Amino acid sequence: MRFDRFQADALYGPDGFYADGGVAGRGGDFVTAVETGRDFAESVALELDAAWNAAEEPAVFVVVEGGAGVGTLCSDVYAVRPACSDALRWVMVERSDVQREAAINRLAHETFPDAGQLPVAAVRDIGEMQLGEPVSIVLANELLDNLPVRVVRKGEAWEELFVGLDDGSATAVWNELDSTASRRAERYGSLVAPSAPFPLIDHAVQWVVKARRLLRPGGRVILFDYGATTLELSQRGLDGWLRTYSKQQRGLGVLENIGGQDITADVAFDQLPGGPRLESQQDWLTARGILERRAKAAALIDRNMSEASSLAAISRVQGIDALIEPDGLGGFVAATWS
Ligand SMILES: C[S@@+](CC[C@H](N)C(=O)[O-])C[C@H]1O[C@@H](n2cnc3c(N)ncnc32)[C@H](O)[C@@H]1O
Repeated sequence: MRFDRFQADALYGPDGFYADGGVAGRGGDFVTAVETGRDFAESVALELDAAWNAAEEPAVFVVVEGGAGVGTLCSDVYAVRPACSDALRWVMVERSDVQREAAINRLAHETFPDAGQLPVAAVRDIGEMQLGEPVSIVLANELLDNLPVRVVRKGEAWEELFVGLDDGSATAVWNELDSTASRRAERYGSLVAPSAPFPLIDHAVQWVVKARRLLRPGGRVILFDYGATTLELSQRGLDGWLRTYSKQQRGLGVLENIGGQDITADVAFDQLPGGPRLESQQDWLTARGILERRAKAAALIDRNMSEASSLAAISRVQGIDALIEPDGLGGFVAATWS
């Protein structure tokens, strides 16, 4: 089978990694920006308020979050009470049944225990969205890197990675690439060295196209993820941009421990359609007040406070430092389509 289908099955099939409880978070398989504390959510809340004000404070303000996982960002944004809270309707799009159920239960029982009707909903796929109200913001943190990729390289002709079975073990097989995909490979990979594998991110492109179609005039898609250009990825080697993770450690090869580890590919941002604005996550967060919040938390540590309050302030500063670290989360890319 083609590698992207193999990856989809290994992650989201009945025995896939995400069917069997693979999750983000400190106790989970990987830590994402939304799991470092509430400060990522605080910056997102500021962004939502700015967009809500710019749209003249509509009574209903719809936000769609792709790859919402267990609902941490959604619940944290409501917890920090942005000005748009009462208008906010948040739709979580999450492919994994286990996580979608966990997310909606968490919102129903922890965030809105007394609400007659929840202002949040969860759907499996962005294509299933049937909305009366047009969408103001589509957001996603670390979704694109989890969408299946096609893997190609230039040999005598363009070739694509397939996964075969040899004596009960999965093996890599390179077959000829179809002509439509060859044209895209030529477009983005013309400078790539012969035999150096790189991703064709058709699934991510489709996701962005669907997301942009949902927007009302003036709306935005904002996606946070790690990645670089197609050429830069190709220079890192296959293991450099296509990685596996399990319990916060690098996992085995992509064809091993199938369904037992996360498979993630750095995003080739130059392949995304529509010319998004690209900036570092550090810059995006800085423009939304994160350094001011760090200074406030740091000032609390220096005062004579109870041990518990000091520890909370220290943990907040550490969370912010992790978010803006240029060699870590701060070096991720925020891509915005306006
Ligand atoms: C790396 S996790 C990130 C979770 C969360 N956004 C965070 O930052 O902690 C990626 C999530 O995207 C989900 N996902 C993958 N493909 C999806 C798709 N096509 N539509 C919706 N969710 C998807 C996965 O199940 C997983 O929960």
